[in-house]
Amino acid sequence: MTSGQHAQSRILACDSASISFSADGQPSFSNEETGQNIKRAAQELRNSSLVAFPTETVYGLGGSALPDSTAIPKIYSTKGRPSDNPLIVHVASRSQLDKLVHPAHRNSLPRCYESLIAKFWPGPLTLLVPTIPGELVSHRVTAGLTTVGVRMPAHPVARALIATADVPVAAPSANTSGRPSPTTAQHVQDDLRGKPDLAYILDGGSCQVGLESTVVSALPHMQDDHIAAEHMSNGHLCKETLRILRLGGVSPEELQRCLQDAGLSERVDLQIATPHSSSSSSSAKPDDPEQPQPDFVPSTPGMKYKHYSPTARVVLLRQSDKEHAEAVETVLESFSGKKLGLLYLESSLLTERLQNETSYTARVSLGSACDYATQAQRLFSGLRDIDAAGVDVILVECVKEEGLGRTVMERLGKAAGNVQPLDVRV
Ligand code: TXA
Ligand code: MG
Repeated sequence: MTSGQHAQSRILACDSASISFSADGQPSFSNEETGQNIKRAAQELRNSSLVAFPTETVYGLGGSALPDSTAIPKIYSTKGRPSDNPLIVHVASRSQLDKLVHPAHRNSLPRCYESLIAKFWPGPLTLLVPTIPGELVSHRVTAGLTTVGVRMPAHPVARALIATADVPVAAPSANTSGRPSPTTAQHVQDDLRGKPDLAYILDGGSCQVGLESTVVSALPHMQDDHIAAEHMSNGHLCKETLRILRLGGVSPEELQRCLQDAGLSERVDLQIATPHSSSSSSSAKPDDPEQPQPDFVPSTPGMKYKHYSPTARVVLLRQSDKEHAEAVETVLESFSGKKLGLLYLESSLLTERLQNETSYTARVSLGSACDYATQAQRLFSGLRDIDAAGVDVILVECVKEEGLGRTVMERLGKAAGNVQPLDVRV
């Protein structure tokens, strides 16, 4: 089948446990079918067709990121993604990373990058590096910037696919823009079924982390990447600032610990560059995911768009003793006549009250209140499952904002259109 003729994207099963890697990262396959499937998919990537594949975070919609690749516009059109939102490039080896970095900066990347790579790669951390669009990477990947986000995924299917194709792979999450990211092959199929440029969906089971990578940059200037490149080539040795541009699968606490263990905590400031609204009144989400939210200063180009939204309205509820907090009955009355879904925490007083007061069309547990990894893993699939039951409103109990819980709440905030949680008395 040639590119552009994939009337039905086929799901190809891959057994992660059957993949092993040599010291130099080359995969071998004890399950013949898995090996064949990955080789077929790798060939499609080399032909500039698209392949959806599992990573440990979420499923990615992959295409070759090489300068002469014709895959990148297909990624944007298949997802319905705004073209000013750059893509993350996935690599399977250190040498693939080196080839993406501007030669003038290969020996002068921020000092903390070595420690971050040693600790978190392969894994859910994306680093911005200076590059040369059009020469080292497709200029369509970087959307006009001279930096590129790079990560080495840990999922054996992803690593084997990239190493076999032997090309850097640009991959956003494999969902329709605006929808919750996919954490199973079925989610990808639900969103992208019948898309002509998608050759295969590799099925490697459910994603373990469940939400996207953390995007960081320690390049000198976030806004003006030309200036950043100049500073670096001057060997600028001032204190580094490591900015978290998007919260994700590596928590701020883990990043701080890594800096401490590497003896860098005195020399590197860790900052969370949270996107913010430039006017306090703007909380409505636009219906069109291609329309940027008004009055919004994003920390990455992608942050200004609507995200992670099911069809149903998402309402966040927070247990509170504050005076203005509303009674559970009052909150539920305001939704009377609506079909309700519930994304809940186990052993929670608020959940208990919500369940005792009314019945729900669909309910999914996010796990226990302090198990942030399970909450992260279940978040997107929970939103999708409840949405599929055809509810009008999904009530979600807020989780504590520490560790990965902070990322879970950031994603939930976006799913709720940045509307503040309702304080509820139990
Ligand atoms: O876990 C993940 O990161 C997944 C899997 C598939 O690897 N990918 C993913 O890609 O979430 P995507 O495209 O949905 O999100 C990429 C984010 C966007 O917010 C984008 O604006 C930002 O990274 N980004 C990419 N390149 C950038 C750059 N050069 N400068 C600033 N932000 C960048
Ligand atoms: Mg995405």
